[in-house]
Amino acid sequence: MSIRSILIHPDPRLKKITAPVAEITDDVRRLADDMLETMYDAPGIGLAAPQVSVMSRMLVMDCEKEEGASANPMVLINPSVIWSSEDRSVYDEGCLSIPDQYAEVERPAAVKVSWTGLDGKEVQETFDGLWSTCVQHEIDHLDGKLFIDYLKPLKRQMITRKMQKLKREMARS
Ligand code: NI
Repeated sequence: MSIRSILIHPDPRLKKITAPVAEITDDVRRLADDMLETMYDAPGIGLAAPQVSVMSRMLVMDCEKEEGASANPMVLINPSVIWSSEDRSVYDEGCLSIPDQYAEVERPAAVKVSWTGLDGKEVQETFDGLWSTCVQHEIDHLDGKLFIDYLKPLKRQMITRKMQKLKREMARS
């Protein structure tokens, strides 16, 4: 396993719609391992393939936050939301591609998602709480959408300018 570098917004690759994963190959399994390691190292609770420059429909997440709970890594290949609750919930969201910036985003409180597992089997599961927010945020990445796209333009531009400055600083050092 190895840690991959995470793209920082703004980057055109974070705005693209990803291609479905056609087959679960060794490369896909290696990517899943690397994405989990990269996510835990960051640390974060979710990571989508485009964030590590791979334009495939695939994400990893682990929102297990209970004290003393063991890790619960999940790999979702070709995920899609097949049902959303009418109830909405608001979370203060962040993103590994937009470091240290947080903003409240309203989304459906619960969603049912279908995907293919690493074993090739079809899975359907309903998520709520933080898991629901996280899976929706990560699926958005696969469609070229970031959480700041839900914010008012002024706030979004402010965050984007901060990220441009951060990238200039990173490039210099
Ligand atoms: Ni994100």
